[in-house]
Amino acid sequence: MKIKYIKLIALLFGLAFTTFITSCKPEDNQPDISLFLPANFPQPVYNTDTNPITPEGFALGKKLFFDPILSRDSSVSCGFCHIPTAAFSNAAHPVSHGIEDKLGIRNAPAVMNMVWHTTFFWDGGVHNLDFTGLNAIQNPVEMDEQLPNLMVKLKRQQTYRKMFTDAFGSDEINTQTLTKALSQFMAMLVSANSRYDKYVRNEAGGNLTPDELEGLQLFKEKKCNTCHATDLFSDFSFRNNGIKDSFDDDKGRFLVTLNPNDTGKFKVPSLRNLQYTYPYMHNGSIGTLEAVLQHYAGGVLPSQTLDSLLIQPDGTPGIPMTELEQTKIIAFLKTLTDPQFIKDPRFAE
Ligand code: HEC
Ligand code: HEC
Repeated sequence: MKIKYIKLIALLFGLAFTTFITSCKPEDNQPDISLFLPANFPQPVYNTDTNPITPEGFALGKKLFFDPILSRDSSVSCGFCHIPTAAFSNAAHPVSHGIEDKLGIRNAPAVMNMVWHTTFFWDGGVHNLDFTGLNAIQNPVEMDEQLPNLMVKLKRQQTYRKMFTDAFGSDEINTQTLTKALSQFMAMLVSANSRYDKYVRNEAGGNLTPDELEGLQLFKEKKCNTCHATDLFSDFSFRNNGIKDSFDDDKGRFLVTLNPNDTGKFKVPSLRNLQYTYPYMHNGSIGTLEAVLQHYAGGVLPSQTLDSLLIQPDGTPGIPMTELEQTKIIAFLKTLTDPQFIKDPRFAE
């Protein structure tokens, strides 16, 4: 009798407790969509006032990002080339593979910390995050879809009509709402919880080994941080770092400015998450960090537009570094790996 009574009380308590816990959960189990602005980063460039991030807009942007419906034959999604586990780059291909396995000419960059970028693409050909997706959708070797046709396909789906209404207050699906939703998802892709970040922000888990600290020191001494500047590791300028001496196949920044002094210059890439974003450079021509360091130490190719930072006073190209120094710089670069970012369930397909 007594035991039964206790069991009943326990059951009632259990029930009351679960009801309490469920009622405490955030509404509809929605993910946290507040934009993470790390203390060690400068002010963002993308103006979220013109496109406020909402749970509904973010959810729609995420669905669109991973939906192959954006391509002509429904075979390729944004996430096909920008893969979450590769920090939204593509580790499988040196240059991008799009629809019908057509080859692009450039390596898919990591889509992370986009709200701090002043321009987009390796040559800076796109000025606003909102236009990056349109380019891919219409590119014949990427998704090869016509925008009016895409709108028809999206409007046909009840789920999309509902999601666009929830996000933007109307089931009118157009280029503007499509790009705004995609930008809300991409804006949220902030990577700033590497061991290095925790070290600079004095947070728990921010311990660097003596080798890594020496690597950080060398990174500054060897002037890597002139181009790979701030904690975003890019000054977002366009430079020629000597990976080629002829640029006839891809003239880089020249294609945008038509200024011959810009031939062979490409946007300085961030150095975050390098352990996930290989192969490296705009054409994916360097496969490992060891090879990147060997390039700077002894493989820099001279050309008209080679950056002066990569030319020694006696005219020899490159940054002199011993093998040991290269190893330490690599040890430092690996502290910029942010496993929390690539495992974030909010960003997973
Ligand atoms: C076929 C592969 C492919 C697909 C599909 C693709 N991208 Fe890209 N993406 C690339 C490549 C390659 C670049 C670099 C382009 C260049 O420099 O000319 C790029 C560049 C970008 C950039 C600029 C990153 C930077 O650092 O400047 C953003 C943002 C982006 N893509 C978003 C998207 C979105 C959104 C979609 C879907 C609508 C998408 N991409 C679909 C391959 C792809
Ligand atoms: C003059 C400016 C400049 C300096 C100095 C410089 N870099 Fe770079 N770095 C670049 C540019 C530009 C690229 C991209 C080049 C391209 O793709 O054509 C790049 C690419 C890289 C990449 C490949 C990143 C990726 O995602 O593809 C790594 C790694 C790198 N640099 C590390 C370093 C290190 C380490 C140093 C110092 C030893 C250094 N860089 C010095 C401008 C510079």
